[in-house]
Amino acid sequence: MVRRAPGYPAVMSEERPGAAEWVPERLSLTALREAVQDCRGCELYRDATQGVMGAGRRTARLMVLGEQPGDHEDQEGEPFVGPAGKVLDRALADAGIDPDDVFRTNVVKHFRWSGTRGKQRLHKSPSRAQVAACAPWLAAELQLIRPTGVVLLGGTAGKAVYGSSFTVGDTRGRLATWPDDFVVGRPPAWVLATTHPSAVLRADDRQAAYEDLVADLAVAARELG
Ligand code: URA
Ligand code: SF4
Repeated sequence: MVRRAPGYPAVMSEERPGAAEWVPERLSLTALREAVQDCRGCELYRDATQGVMGAGRRTARLMVLGEQPGDHEDQEGEPFVGPAGKVLDRALADAGIDPDDVFRTNVVKHFRWSGTRGKQRLHKSPSRAQVAACAPWLAAELQLIRPTGVVLLGGTAGKAVYGSSFTVGDTRGRLATWPDDFVVGRPPAWVLATTHPSAVLRADDRQAAYEDLVADLAVAARELG
């Protein structure tokens, strides 16, 4: 899937041409945020309220990569503002990472959901083809931010970078290198995978799952110095 130069999605069709043609040539956070609202790179824009581009400072040294906006993010237009985002922010702080040093984003920029529970729309993970279609936005964010390190939150983020054989369990908490076949202008110096904060919220032992997340993020904190 995304084991190739992003910007040239492997899975294209008339229905799902990939995001490349909507990515502006002159990159800025404002330009990206505006342009993503027009994206028709895959079908996910149809059922979502808006596109949710990454947020944070341009000078951030750490990119934290989640899966896709959730119900709250879709309504507010900002990443990680719902329950999972609160867990993430607390964990980053407990790991000693300065929030100003973090750019938060997702591999897919529109909320995929199916069905409702009460007023809440239920998250559905994006397909590999949708992740591939959306990759040019992530490539643009990487080019703009040029982070020193990238933290991958959960399996979808991991597969988007390393391919479909990636699993969090095999890799979490260990520094890895950015893969050569995901071509970016200046690749990050290191990558670290960990669990997704929403998995912490679903865990039987939330406290233990939270502490494991913080321990992984502490590895990133040490690396940032
Ligand atoms: N989960 C994610 O992966 N990303 C968000 O922005 C919110 C929840
Ligand atoms: Fe474009 Fe990504 Fe939204 Fe699909 S999910 S429409 S590729 S921004």
